[in-house]
Amino acid sequence: MATMKFKGRHFLTMLDYSREELEYLLELALKMKKGQEKRNLNGKTLAMLFQKSSTRTRMSFEAGMTRLGGHGMFLDMKNTQLGRGETVADTARTMSRYVEGIMARLNDHKDIEEMAKYATVPVINALTDMHHPCQTMADMLTVKEKKGKIAGLKVVYLGDCGFNMFHSTMIGFSKLGADVVGSCPNIESYNPKAPILEAAKKQAVGKITIEHDPKKAVVGADVIYTDVWVSMGQDEEKAKRLSELKNYQVNEALFKLAKPDAIFMHCLPAHRGEEVTAGVIDGKQSVVFDEAENRLWAQNAILLELMGGKE
Ligand code: CP
Ligand code: NVA
Repeated sequence: MATMKFKGRHFLTMLDYSREELEYLLELALKMKKGQEKRNLNGKTLAMLFQKSSTRTRMSFEAGMTRLGGHGMFLDMKNTQLGRGETVADTARTMSRYVEGIMARLNDHKDIEEMAKYATVPVINALTDMHHPCQTMADMLTVKEKKGKIAGLKVVYLGDCGFNMFHSTMIGFSKLGADVVGSCPNIESYNPKAPILEAAKKQAVGKITIEHDPKKAVVGADVIYTDVWVSMGQDEEKAKRLSELKNYQVNEALFKLAKPDAIFMHCLPAHRGEEVTAGVIDGKQSVVFDEAENRLWAQNAILLELMGGKE
């Protein structure tokens, strides 16, 4: 703990945090879930800026801030001057004068980097096109609870491996010692973005591999993960994506090839009949609502440390 300093840092991707720091945040989240943490964020405000839709992220951050004794302030593009052309830099500098932290869900990862460059308070990434680190922190917390560990497990992700959810799953789980397999069509756009894959591999403790055959990929898996085939902002490509990704559906037959005690994970929202069947997501081995709940606990640990919680 002596070398760990969180106060004032941004949380844009898990690449910026060491294995020890991520493990510490997960332990703190578990402690907070058990009601064993006395520090709070009394009187502090988190600005919550959304450029895209959200159910879980908005609710877990807002309810999370209430539990911490502070306030979550919802803002969207339409009702702020950002929607009328005020720059991200000016917005970040202005927001920093009112609040102790900023959470943002933005289309383009470059915009959140710009926001972090100009903000003088911590900026937390609540999803961009390239990363969704808060989701993966909640997912790793869920796996720790269900399996008692992360290191040594096999985590298999099926679907689009070139977008936010696979990137964060790959970075987080491999850094904590799991072997991560991505299974996607052998088409450039569905493969992980090269600089992100390279950065993840450099820090990985477990192995990272891409296996285009979904049946081979899931053999021996402890965790099967999937996400929507059409992410926010991709609606125009819907027909093409549904057709190209159809062999990657997590159905009962595919799930049977994993370990008998494998768990099914999904960040939600889900589209039953597309990336997953109702039988799997609503089945006994699905932990999707535990993941949703754990968003709150994982994020509260991050908020408490970055925004400087006190007793
Ligand atoms: N998983 C997730 O981020 O959900 P929302 O889009 O509902 O926030
Ligand atoms: N990949 C999805 C994740 C939603 C939480 C999207 O970007 O829409």
